Amino acid sequence: MKAKNANVECRPSREKINRRTPDIKAKWNASKSERDLRASFYKTFSQCPIPENEVLQNLGLFISRQNLSQILFINEIYEQIVPVHGVIMEFGVRWGRNIALYNSLRGIYEPFNHNRKVIGFDTFEGFPTVHAKDGASEIIDVGSYGVTPDYEQYLSVVIDYHEKESPISNIKKTELVKGDATVTIERYLSNNPETIVAFAYFDFDIYEPTKACLSAIKSRLTKGSIIGFDELNHHDYPGETLALKEVIGIGSCRIRHSRYSPTQSYIVIE
Ligand SMILES: C[S@@+](CC[C@H](N)C(=O)[O-])C[C@H]1O[C@@H](n2cnc3c(N)ncnc32)[C@H](O)[C@@H]1O
Repeated sequence: MKAKNANVECRPSREKINRRTPDIKAKWNASKSERDLRASFYKTFSQCPIPENEVLQNLGLFISRQNLSQILFINEIYEQIVPVHGVIMEFGVRWGRNIALYNSLRGIYEPFNHNRKVIGFDTFEGFPTVHAKDGASEIIDVGSYGVTPDYEQYLSVVIDYHEKESPISNIKKTELVKGDATVTIERYLSNNPETIVAFAYFDFDIYEPTKACLSAIKSRLTKGSIIGFDELNHHDYPGETLALKEVIGIGSCRIRHSRYSPTQSYIVIE
C-alpha cells in the first residue's frame, strides 16, 4: 500500500482520536492509579520543551519499562531469525510499532538483506467479527482496536522514513495488506508463491484470523522459523490459544516464555 499523501497535518483532534479508539485497559490490566499516572505523564510529554530538532533523539526519556520490555522482546526474537531465510509477517499491526521496529532491527543486524520483507496484515478498522471461542471480555467486540481513518497512509510515511535510515532503501521491503486477513492471507500467498516465513507474529488477539493465518503459513515455515504470540494463555483472549491448539497442538511444540514479557511467547520450529 502506497502513501497517498505525506501531509499528515490534517489529523483529527486528540479528543476525537481518543473517542474513536477503545479503552485498552483490559489488555494491559491497568489499575485506575496506573491509568491516572500515565494520563498525567502524557501531559508532561505533550508539554516537552526539547527543541524540534532534538526531540526524536530523546524519546528514551518517555519510554516506560513496559514499552521497553516490548522492544526487548522483539529484539530477542529478531536476533534468533537473522540466520533464517524468509520474510517477517505481523498479523495484527494496529498503529504499527512493531513494523517500525522490524525495519530498524533489519538495518542494525542485516542491513544488506533486502530479501527480508516485512508484511503487515490488518483491517485498520479493528476486529471485523468475533467468535464464541473469543470469550466474553469487554474488549472482545466488533471494531475493537480500530484506528483513525486512513491511518495506514500515515504509517506508510513513517515506514518510508525508517527504510531511508538504512541501506538499500531503493528496494521497498515493507508491505501493508489491508483487509480481513482470513481473506487477504490466501490472496497474498497466491500472489507471492515463493514466500518462506522466518518469523510470524500473531497479535490479532482473536480466534478466526489467528486460525486462518496459522493454517495458511504452516507449510511456509522452515526449521528455525519463529511463531510469536501476544496473548497465549491469556484469560481475556482465549481464541488465540484455541487457534494454536487446533492448528499445531500445544503438546507438539515448546512454547517459550520470554524474560522480558509476562504475556508474549514464541515457538521455534524444530
Ligand atoms: C491488539 S491489536 C495489534 C497490536 C499491535 N501488534 C501492536 O503491537 O501494537 C489487534 C489488531 O488485529 C487486527 N485484526 C483483528 N482481526 C483481524 C482480521 N480478521 N483481519 C485483519 N486484522 C485483524 C485489528 O484491527 C487490530 O489492529
